[in-house]
Amino acid sequence: MKLLYINLFLLTLTAIVYADVWKFNVVSILGTAYDVGLKYENKVTKMTSEVYPLYTVTIRSGSTTEYHYVAMDKSGNVVAEEKIKRVYNSNTPNINEVYNRTTKTVNVPSLPRAFNPIYPGGSAKYQDFPRNQIYNLYASCNDDQYDDLKYSPFGEGKTKNENFANCTINLITPNETYQRTGALYLVGYNSRLYKKLSWKFKLDKKIFGRKTIKVRALASDPTLMRDKLASELFRSAGVPTYSGTYIRVMINDDVWGLYNIVDTVGGNWLASVIHGNDDAHVGYNYKIYSSVPNGPFASLRYLGEDPDSYEYSGSYEADEVDKNDTQAPNEFYRLARFTKMFEDWTKTYKNDQSQNAVTALEKFFDLESFLRQLVIESLTFAYDNFWAQLGNSAIYYNPEKNKYQIIPYDFDGTFFGSCDSPYYASDYITDCISWADNTAVDKYFVNNIMRHELIVTRYQQIMNQIIKTVFNVDGVSAFIDAVSNLIREDVSWNFSLIDTLDNSGYENHFTLKNFEDNTNFKMVEYNGSINYNDANYGLKQWVQLRGGYCKNYVESELGSVPAAPVNPVNPVNPEPTPEVAPVQPTTTVAAPPPVVTTKPTTTTTVIVAPKPTTVTSKVTISKKVIPIKSTTTTHRIRNTRKVTIKKVVSRTKYAARPPELNRTF
Ligand SMILES: *[C@@H]1O[C@H](CO)[C@@H](O)[C@H](O)[C@H]1NC(C)=O
Ligand SMILES: *[C@@H]1O[C@H](CO)[C@@H](O)[C@H](O)[C@H]1NC(C)=O
Ligand SMILES: *[C@@H]1O[C@H](CO)[C@@H](O)[C@H](O)[C@H]1NC(C)=O
Ligand SMILES: *[C@@H]1O[C@H](CO)[C@@H](O)[C@H](O)[C@H]1NC(C)=O
Ligand SMILES: *[C@@H]1O[C@H](CO)[C@@H](O)[C@H](O)[C@H]1NC(C)=O
Ligand SMILES: *[C@@H]1O[C@H](CO)[C@@H](O)[C@H](O)[C@H]1NC(C)=O
Repeated sequence: MKLLYINLFLLTLTAIVYADVWKFNVVSILGTAYDVGLKYENKVTKMTSEVYPLYTVTIRSGSTTEYHYVAMDKSGNVVAEEKIKRVYNSNTPNINEVYNRTTKTVNVPSLPRAFNPIYPGGSAKYQDFPRNQIYNLYASCNDDQYDDLKYSPFGEGKTKNENFANCTINLITPNETYQRTGALYLVGYNSRLYKKLSWKFKLDKKIFGRKTIKVRALASDPTLMRDKLASELFRSAGVPTYSGTYIRVMINDDVWGLYNIVDTVGGNWLASVIHGNDDAHVGYNYKIYSSVPNGPFASLRYLGEDPDSYEYSGSYEADEVDKNDTQAPNEFYRLARFTKMFEDWTKTYKNDQSQNAVTALEKFFDLESFLRQLVIESLTFAYDNFWAQLGNSAIYYNPEKNKYQIIPYDFDGTFFGSCDSPYYASDYITDCISWADNTAVDKYFVNNIMRHELIVTRYQQIMNQIIKTVFNVDGVSAFIDAVSNLIREDVSWNFSLIDTLDNSGYENHFTLKNFEDNTNFKMVEYNGSINYNDANYGLKQWVQLRGGYCKNYVESELGSVPAAPVNPVNPVNPEPTPEVAPVQPTTTVAAPPPVVTTKPTTTTTVIVAPKPTTVTSKVTISKKVIPIKSTTTTHRIRNTRKVTIKKVVSRTKYAARPPELNRTF
């Protein structure tokens, strides 16, 4: 009897001794009307939040390691329980889980590299965002100021509402928490026609080396990854561009959904990514804007020395001003220098097909980076970027190299094809060089460059290298599938949120099936009763078709040239040299190599031949598409300090709209 008691006592003691303190951290994505609790051994413990929406709790461990989270209303009643089975382990206290999202490590590989980078791509303090994480952001903003932005994204006469709201901002990564004060702004012009708005947070103190956190809504994209895939393709080609990751965005009582967090091409970014040093001397940087179809266009024509000609053109903005540039008497001096040098070059070398023309251009312009950019724009059919619409780019005067360069950004108009715009020929999908020739903008810049055969040959060589290394279904699939895996659980959530928001604007009710289809080989047909946008090609389908046609194109021009080897990139090396020689050295090989001399190495590259039938049926389908709702469309414009350009076109039928406007990004 006595022995039994002692045994029981010992058992109890053991239980107490071995009961550990367990800590749980979970991010709520339920909105401010709910709290989160921990359900462990059938007991619910309400969790508390110091840095909303991160909830924590500590408990004493019991006999099981299984637990899950529950949603609770403000009276403490459990209103929902996640189905996910979670298992406590030694890492659990160190990570921030997310309610109703599996805690998993997704390996998102980089795309295969076609070229080594031309520029450093980052610095110790300013690194690319990780590819494999989803961040969370909650902003508590001044109610009136926030409501003004949310309900009135446009001011008088469809000008942008440029007001801001004061906020405190909590940013929670899978293992870190940041709190900042700052201001909330709307971003974009066309993007504010959508109900799911895009935002920018200007922080009083940096996070990840950044003063600005821009979150883009991706409201027209059923895959939520067009921008990301395109930016990774630029990266693969060694062209400097922004990095991004995903982020769940909540502001005040609104849950806005899944966004892309992207960098702005500003001073910090230029110092780190272009010069590889946070403190680098940054030169003048101009953002360009074009308004289709009637202009003005950022044609890069020389407009004289008067800075007003540039400033009031509506096409240029001095985004980064170099106070140390003592040669520059005004903010548009460097742009005037560039356009003047280009004009002079154009005149001098108009009929000169020799290497001299290339050498002269490369004295003041990074031609290699630009040609790689054009190749990616052609392959992805970048609908509103530099080549097609003279937009979404910066003209940077690099004081270190004393050269100008063009830096692309904003790729949400990629992988959609022509969207039935008659500015593209009916055979546009097979056309990899003159695909953008008929778009409305002034093609002065590109056309003068591409009149040189040596440069066109280099363009074809770059295209060949990119198609053989990355722009084929094998090359992009691992990346697309991994990103799908990363965001899949958030996609339906994002989709359903559109109905919980009470502002107005274009809506897309895409589905998880649309997402699966469109990341792979299927289009999303237009359905005007639920969606504003469609998507005529799946991502892999587009890569297969376009990559196949452009492979045919380069092989007809160059013969069959295997891909050049690309050495692994050494991130420590600030100035990696391009593996494939830039324009100059190639000029000794004036004639294209003979057709198919080497067979063994390239036979494994499987690029499925494009099926013409697919294209035909696609065209037939999209011809039937005639949305019925009355729409108001505008295009990208900008408001300078002194002049305001606005273009508002109201039409009752989509079909009757100017063709260039058939897509709103
Ligand atoms: C969890 O997420 C799924 C997918 O978004 C949703 O259908 C389900 O209702 C959510 N469950 C809870 C308990 O919130
Ligand atoms: C917003 O914040 C700025 C400083 O960040 C401050 O000057 C201003 O007074 C604030 N406005 C409001 C309405 O709180
Ligand atoms: C959080 O994770 C990132 C990336 O996985 C890592 O670089 C960082 O050091 C981690 N931070 C902490 C506080 O553990
Ligand atoms: C700009 O010039 C000032 C002195 O004129 C110097 O102290 C500063 O370091 C320079 N800044 C950069 C970024 O070169
Ligand atoms: C995500 O939500 C936005 C609106 O909130 C919507 O436009 C978009 O279609 C959704 N995307 C997906 C893939 O569900
Ligand atoms: C459009 O969407 C509605 C609502 O989901 C659906 O009932 C209808 O069948 C769809 N139409 C087409 C052509 O898919």
